[in-house]
Amino acid sequence: MNESTFPGTEQFPSPAQPIAPTVTQPAAHPRPQAQPQRNLTPPDNYAEMPRPTAKLTAEDIAPVNDAHGPRSKIGPTGRPVPDLPEPQPPARTGPAQVISMCNQKGGVGKTTTTINLGAAIAETGRKVLLIDFDPQGSASIGLGVQPHDLDLSVYNLLMQRDITADEVIRATNVPNLDLLPANIDLSAAEVQLVQEVAREYTLQRVLEPIVPNYDVILIDCAPSLGLLTVNALTASNGIVVPLECEFFALRGLAMLTDTIGKVQDRLNPKLEIVGILGTMFDGRTTHAREVLDRVVQAFDERVFHTVIRRTVKFPETTVVGEPITTYAPSSQAATQYRDLAKEVLARCPAG
Ligand SMILES: Nc1ncnc2c1ncn2[C@@H]1O[C@H](COP(=O)(O)OP(=O)(O)OP(=O)(O)O)[C@@H](O)[C@H]1O
Ligand SMILES: [Mg+2]
Repeated sequence: MNESTFPGTEQFPSPAQPIAPTVTQPAAHPRPQAQPQRNLTPPDNYAEMPRPTAKLTAEDIAPVNDAHGPRSKIGPTGRPVPDLPEPQPPARTGPAQVISMCNQKGGVGKTTTTINLGAAIAETGRKVLLIDFDPQGSASIGLGVQPHDLDLSVYNLLMQRDITADEVIRATNVPNLDLLPANIDLSAAEVQLVQEVAREYTLQRVLEPIVPNYDVILIDCAPSLGLLTVNALTASNGIVVPLECEFFALRGLAMLTDTIGKVQDRLNPKLEIVGILGTMFDGRTTHAREVLDRVVQAFDERVFHTVIRRTVKFPETTVVGEPITTYAPSSQAATQYRDLAKEVLARCPAG
């Protein structure tokens, strides 16, 4: 998985060649036989491209029952959903897996995923720290912390040698879930860090003392590939790439994978892509399904089986300042983030 680039990303269509209008009547096109997974055809042939969805049998799509109620064996990504075990509480705490939510595109669900994946992992008995690494302070707001009221934030931790992480970290209302908050001060760090020695390692250096205290540390990156994001990637073992299931989501992925490759080569060879997460998925639209198909064709098993569906519940959780797992614990949205937690924990066994 530790590759410098994703295969096939350079072949994503340009925005001048929209894919959606070319695919109108899938039934009119006989499905081609299975072809090699990453053999992407040009975008104007998109309607003829092989779909990752295997031929479904009646048994495949028949709902099966598990702890979360009925569900289909074939997931929204068109692949059979693995039956992952319920995560058991760990025998000991730490050292933490450090995972960045990263995509330089704005509004794709990085913050929503950081908060709700973090809360779902915390429910399994693991100690989780969320790091708000975006000057917008959205993860802090989403957990009920007002960024302008902060005396100390991640900015102070990065820039002042006499401040320790324990002074800045605060507990949240969710058991096992702590927060390292941020506010607009962090935007100054992007500029000030340029002067620092080993500037890309600053976050890693300040996190080192607390890595043994947590099982999972999730970093909510800003929508940019600047020095702050490079710091997050350098401090991480893994990356989760949230991807909104709409056409423009595919733009810029080559730039993201290029940055990941450079960080792997020059700064952090341990960095791995944990997975790509389809977000804001609306299964009723052909377009969303096609974008997801396309992503699975390009990234194959790196795409999480779990997909986060579009629902107004997420904007609501921001207003109340709590995760979906406590705001609407039995909702489909909460179940999806619990499923994602299972997948992430299965892909990142405790270090
Ligand atoms: N599955 C979803 N369904 C509906 N709305 C969603 C979903 N996920 C996120 N949202 C909403 O979309 C908006 C953007 O989400 P979010 O803030 O998580 O994205 P982001 O990638 O962190 O954005 P930014 O790049 O600005 O940091 C928010 O208003 C959020 O409530
Ligand atoms: Mg955000």
